[in-house]
Amino acid sequence: MASSLRGLARQGAAYLSQRGVEDADFDARQLLLHCCGIDGTRFLTDGDKPVDDAKAAAYQALLDRRAAGEPLQYILGQWDFYGSAFAVGPGVLIPRPETEQLTELCIGQIGRGVHRTVYDLCAGTGCIGLSIAKACPQTQVYLFELFDAAFCYLKKNAAAMALPNAHLIQADVLRGCPADLPAPDLIVSNPPYVKAGEIAGLQREVGFEPATALDGGEDGYVFYRAIAERWLPLLKHNGFAAVECGEGQPETVSALFAPYLEARPLTDVFGISRFAAGNRK
Ligand SMILES: C[S@@+](CC[C@H](N)C(=O)[O-])C[C@H]1O[C@@H](n2cnc3c(N)ncnc32)[C@H](O)[C@@H]1O
Repeated sequence: MASSLRGLARQGAAYLSQRGVEDADFDARQLLLHCCGIDGTRFLTDGDKPVDDAKAAAYQALLDRRAAGEPLQYILGQWDFYGSAFAVGPGVLIPRPETEQLTELCIGQIGRGVHRTVYDLCAGTGCIGLSIAKACPQTQVYLFELFDAAFCYLKKNAAAMALPNAHLIQADVLRGCPADLPAPDLIVSNPPYVKAGEIAGLQREVGFEPATALDGGEDGYVFYRAIAERWLPLLKHNGFAAVECGEGQPETVSALFAPYLEARPLTDVFGISRFAAGNRK
């Protein structure tokens, strides 16, 4: 007899849990909803209905991918960030919850002032810059990303959100601003910040994400130095800049930014020192 939705979700959770997947209940349920093309409410109301064999087999294939360590977000092909769904997959970093806090901080600054031109450096999916462009239609947001695979996702997400004030630029942030653009009122970035030698030891799921999104050079500060030397000088008087950092980095990053910024470390919702931010000196 065919299993019910609820039964399959239970079996799926046990399967993932036995294979060391954290949040096995959540992941198994999300994969099942995705596979059956239903939402959480339908799962609750139709939980006892049988699932046909073809769908059950497709579900098992997704469970196998997850059990092998592939991130849930890549399997689903999209992930919510700041109220919008962003396409994700191999070649682009999955948006993280702490980055929503960085986005919120920037949107708060824009709300308070006259910040009209925004640069998002190392944009990836565009989760930060596109969310700012959506929340603040009075701004012009320039999103910079170097790598083809990530840039494809950026283009896809920008097209889906259809924001006339978002401008995509494929360029190397380490080399400075590639074009004659309006000077920024606000610079935001979540750059690669992992020490090159520590990438191999990261969580299994992170190994599926591109090393180019993680590699912050030998000491992890390559991008912060480039931002300090090549981008912060462009910031307008009274401008604001905010960057996300690895654990333990915000103090050093604030010092690197000190020639141009009244920078200080800020903590994330988990109480970890996570950002460096401040106004132009
Ligand atoms: C840590 S990810 C952040 C992505 C996105 N901003 C987010 O918060 O999810 C860093 C991004 O920088 C991009 N990147 C790496 N080196 C770069 C470079 N030299 N110039 C521009 N972008 C670069 C990577 O491809 C990746 O998309």
